[in-house]
Amino acid sequence: MCSVVGYIGNRYCKKFVLEGLRRLEYRGYDSAGFACLNPEDNRLLYLKAEGKLDNLSDELENSSIDGFLGIGHTRWATHGLSTEQNAHPHFDCQKKLSVVHNGIVENHHELRQQLVQAGHVFHSETDTEIIAHLFEALLISHKTFKAALIELVNRLEGAFAFVSIMQDLPDTMILVRKRSPLCIGIGDGQMFVASDLLAFVKKTNKVLFLPDKSFALVRNDMIELYDFSGKALPIVIQEIDVDIDAHEKKGHSHYMLKEIYEQKNAISETIDFLKKIDSQIWSHLGISSEYAKELESISIVGCGTSWHAARIAQFFFETIALTPTKVNLASEFRYMNFFPSKNSLYIAVSQSGETADTLEAVRFVNDIKLPTIAVTNVASSSMVRESDGFLLTQAGQEIAVASTKAFSTQIAALFWLANRLALEKGIITRKQMDLSQEDLLVAAEVLENSIENYKFDIIQRHAKKYAAYKKTIFLGRNISYPFAMEAALKLKEISYVFAQCYPAGELKHGPLALIDSETPVFVFSHQDPLLYSKIVANTQEVKARDGHVVVFAFEGQDELCELADLSFVFPRVNPLLGPLAMTGLMQFFVYQIAKELGRPIDKPRNLAKSVTVE
Ligand code: AGP
Repeated sequence: MCSVVGYIGNRYCKKFVLEGLRRLEYRGYDSAGFACLNPEDNRLLYLKAEGKLDNLSDELENSSIDGFLGIGHTRWATHGLSTEQNAHPHFDCQKKLSVVHNGIVENHHELRQQLVQAGHVFHSETDTEIIAHLFEALLISHKTFKAALIELVNRLEGAFAFVSIMQDLPDTMILVRKRSPLCIGIGDGQMFVASDLLAFVKKTNKVLFLPDKSFALVRNDMIELYDFSGKALPIVIQEIDVDIDAHEKKGHSHYMLKEIYEQKNAISETIDFLKKIDSQIWSHLGISSEYAKELESISIVGCGTSWHAARIAQFFFETIALTPTKVNLASEFRYMNFFPSKNSLYIAVSQSGETADTLEAVRFVNDIKLPTIAVTNVASSSMVRESDGFLLTQAGQEIAVASTKAFSTQIAALFWLANRLALEKGIITRKQMDLSQEDLLVAAEVLENSIENYKFDIIQRHAKKYAAYKKTIFLGRNISYPFAMEAALKLKEISYVFAQCYPAGELKHGPLALIDSETPVFVFSHQDPLLYSKIVANTQEVKARDGHVVVFAFEGQDELCELADLSFVFPRVNPLLGPLAMTGLMQFFVYQIAKELGRPIDKPRNLAKSVTVE
């Protein structure tokens, strides 16, 4: 969501803060701000700008403000519009302390009322400004600074990570973390602070991840860490390696396109990695082989694209490992009735490993002492740290907001895991396990080749035509239904074209009324003969109402293709991997539509890559 970046040390900080914010812009880009202490007299200086980070960086370039202690922020709006006034940092009444924040202060309304009654004057609609004013009030009413801070962190409800700098404490940066991520990079006589270590990977690989419900007082060369009761905590420094090569577009016009093309390789790296850990897989996942053999049910949670991958994986676990599997949206899971079942496994699927809804679901299950595993792309993520076990996809860093290679590697990893579980349970043989790995590689090959087969037609003819439609319908059946949901989401998020998805069999129960020649219907086929025949019948229902049909079909599915106004045909693969085979072309097609419409594809409006608020 929002990103916070900070610096304290022996160098001027403006350049680093801007660079750090640039790397974290995937987290939000509605507005941005910077504050530092003036080296001459410790006066708080600041600049804020509406819109993308470029606006702030242009203004900062023409300004002389800089210092040895500074903070910066890019915002993904939660409370109040994306205006300059609502941009962070926010201040107390005297403008002596400033705060940048990621998260949501849930009791902000009540606190604001109390503070207004006490005479505080607010300048923004944000929940963050409450933190600055409450801190100001508590500094007056408490004897020591630390006592005020302890009361502050305990008065705030919700999930938050914030950094504060103060005129009266010019050698210290204050960091607070509850549920939202925050880490410190330890340099030589300098400390780097950020929501994500990506902000400072080039500066140091020594990182302290703030534990949940902790606060830190950070100086040039020392850190004090406390829990919310004020008890000192040990400082655990980790050495982290991060590949920042991902930050090059390598000749592609967008990160999304580059990432679409990286999928075949990412899938093969994921399989190689899984093969390597095959013999210790259960210890990796934090369960015993006996527990895996006895496993009676699986429950998967995720959001957005990760939820779609989980919905596809449900078919893997039920078909291959014969294990009943439920999939829930993480944001719903926590607020539903929960019936703990023994011999079950809870899997959280998340590219970032930081999505607040999914992380809270993990915490909820952890509290009940049931086994949790994270299937994620980020080894240093909160989900990896907080789950009992984890499985890492090898997608490499994904920069574009729209998930592509993370999705396909999640499918690959979950397919592999379903097979591995079936092997452990004695349902399949080692030879079948090996074949399943081959099947994945074949599907990855088809994923890439199909882009090559159709790319010129899409670029030269189809993208322009389909970019002109204002609304679309997506249909699938069985495993192609969650895939159709993913296709609809992809189109919505990057092109802003309205896209609605249904299971094809549901069409006649209402949505058929939407069919007309102005609303293309995208149909995703299945290789199973029975399901295929049903999909053909559903497509005929659309054609009979003068609908315009685009099909994604498999070789030999001529009847379906003949019904279509446009068809893409894929070689046959393992039927459970049909969606994986179609992934590349689907993404490429919607990418070209969005490009035709001139959308900011890598950073679509209103969205952020990592959603760390509930
Ligand atoms: C995908 O294109 C989306 N931008 C979004 O739905 C994303 O998948 C979702 O927010 C979950 O993120 P995660 O995988 O990092 O948990």
